[in-house]
Amino acid sequence: MVTSASVLFVCLGNICRSPLAEAAFRDAAGRAGLAVQVDSAGTGGWHIGEAPDPRACAVAAEHGIDITGFRGRQIERTDFTRFSHIFALDHANLTDLRRIAPADTSARLALLLDIVPGRAGQSVADPYYGGPEDFAQTWNEVARAAEMLVTHLAG
Ligand code: 4NP
Repeated sequence: MVTSASVLFVCLGNICRSPLAEAAFRDAAGRAGLAVQVDSAGTGGWHIGEAPDPRACAVAAEHGIDITGFRGRQIERTDFTRFSHIFALDHANLTDLRRIAPADTSARLALLLDIVPGRAGQSVADPYYGGPEDFAQTWNEVARAAEMLVTHLAG
């Protein structure tokens, strides 16, 4: 195993997008033999301790991944020094992260899709008020980003 980065994915609620990003990245890193520390968190605290949204669990299960054991948490001050990379799922998340980042932040903050060719500067849309097709799109986006991230970190 190659020792590598520690990565935190951050969305608003930590029940839809960032757990899927975490799952996709764990899966891609595992397949690539890349040792990584991975977690996800929300900028908001509404879903602390909750399992991911059932629709997120369903789309992960379609790809053979069980995320029902994940539990929501809110980003903490120490995350900004514990992780080498913090990826925001959308622009609002990135703005919030920059606002709350402590002065001693060592993590690099970026938008997740910045790593995907042709998608730089774009957000992963919030599927919370959408349907299964929106969760499928979320999966496709985070899975693509996960592959790019593994390639980037392994290189
Ligand atoms: P997420 O989706 O940020 O992708 O986890 C949401 C989950 C919950 C809420 C909004 C978005 N909420 O308003 O409770």
